[in-house]
Amino acid sequence: MPAFQELVFSGVQPTGNLHLGNYLGAIRRFVALQPAYETCLYCVVDLHAITVWQDPAELTAQIREVTAAFLAAGIDPARSIVFNQSQVPQHAELAWIFNCVARLGWLNRMTQFKEKAGKDRENASIGLYDYPVLMAADILAYRATHVPVGEDQKQHLELTRDIAQKFNNDFAGSIAAHGHGEAFFPLTEPLIGGPAARVMSLRDGTKKMSKSDPSDYSRINLTDDADAIAQKVRKAKTDAEPLPSEVAGLAGRPEADNLVGIFASLRDVTREEVLRDYGGAQFSAFKGALVDLAVEALGPVGAEMKRLVADPGHIDAVLADGAARAEAIAAPNLAAVKDIVGFVRRR
Ligand code: AMP
Ligand code: TRP
Repeated sequence: MPAFQELVFSGVQPTGNLHLGNYLGAIRRFVALQPAYETCLYCVVDLHAITVWQDPAELTAQIREVTAAFLAAGIDPARSIVFNQSQVPQHAELAWIFNCVARLGWLNRMTQFKEKAGKDRENASIGLYDYPVLMAADILAYRATHVPVGEDQKQHLELTRDIAQKFNNDFAGSIAAHGHGEAFFPLTEPLIGGPAARVMSLRDGTKKMSKSDPSDYSRINLTDDADAIAQKVRKAKTDAEPLPSEVAGLAGRPEADNLVGIFASLRDVTREEVLRDYGGAQFSAFKGALVDLAVEALGPVGAEMKRLVADPGHIDAVLADGAARAEAIAAPNLAAVKDIVGFVRRR
C-alpha cells in the first residue's frame, strides 16, 4: 500500500436526540483529533437520515442542531471542515460507482440493516439497505485514512475497506495507467476505543443507548439541563451490590459496567482508575459524583447549542463554507475515479 496523506472523516446523522453515547463515543473524540491531523472533515449525514422517514421541517432543524452540537463541543470550523452531506454531490455520485463494486452478499451480512429493518424487511427502503455503501463513499470521496466512530460502526468500516480493496484490485491496471500507482483508495483505519466506545441504555445495560429508544430515561441528551441529568442518573438501573474494586468484578453486571465506563470517559481515565477510587462504594454515592461530572461536561455544551441554533444564518454560513472546502477535495478525487473507471469526462 502506498502512503496516503492522513485525513480524518466522520459523520453523524441528523435524526434527533443527540445523546451521551454520541458525545463520548464520537463528537468529543472529533474535537480531540483536531490538533493531531491537518485535515478533519465532520459531516452531518442528511442523505443517510432519509433512509428512514424524516419530517422535512424537522430534518432541516436537526441538520442545524447537529451542526450546533459540533461547534458547541469544540469543533473549530476554521480548522476542521464542517458541512452537510447533501451539499456535496460527490458523495451520492461515488456511492453509485461503489454500488457496482460492492456485492449483494456483503450487504446481506450487515447487522445494522437487519436491526433497523426489523421484521418487515420487504417494506424497508432500498436506501436503508444501501446505507453502508453511501458511508464508504463519504469516507473514500476524500480518501480518508482515519475514521473515529463508536463500536456500532465497526462492521460498516470493514465494508468500506472491502470496497476500497476491490476497487483497487478490479481497476489496478487503469489506476497505474492514470498515474496513481498501486492503489487509488487507502484502507481506512477505524478509530474506535476508550471506555465509551459503546455507551449502553440507562434502563437496560444490555442495550445500546440510542436516539430512537422510546424512553427518554434511557439516555442523557446533550440538551438536557442539570435537573434532567441528575434525575436520569439517579433513576438509572443498577444492581444491589456495591461497586467492585477490580474490572473483573464488573463481568455479568452490565449496568455497573456501563456507569463505570461513562464515569471513566467523562474523567478521561480508565475503568481501573475509577474502581481504585470507588471500589466498595454504594451506587448512591457513585451516582452523586457521576451527576456532577456529567453536568460539568454537558452543561456548557447544551447551553452553547441553544445559543447557536437561535442563529440559523450563522450555522448555514458555516455549512456553506464547509461544503465548498469539502468539494474542493472530493471533486478532483471523483474526476480521477471517472478516468479510472473509463468514463469520458467533460474537460
Ligand atoms: P448516529 O447517531 O447513529 O449517526 O451516530 C453518530 C456517532 O455516534 C457514530 O460514530 C456512532 O458510532 C456513535 N454512537 C452512537 N450511539 C453510541 C453509543 N451508544 N455509544 C457510543 N457511541 C455511539
Ligand atoms: N453510519 C454512521 C452512524 O450512524 C454515520 C456515518 C455516515 C458515518 N457516514 C459516515 C460515520 C462516514 C463515519 C464515516 O453513526
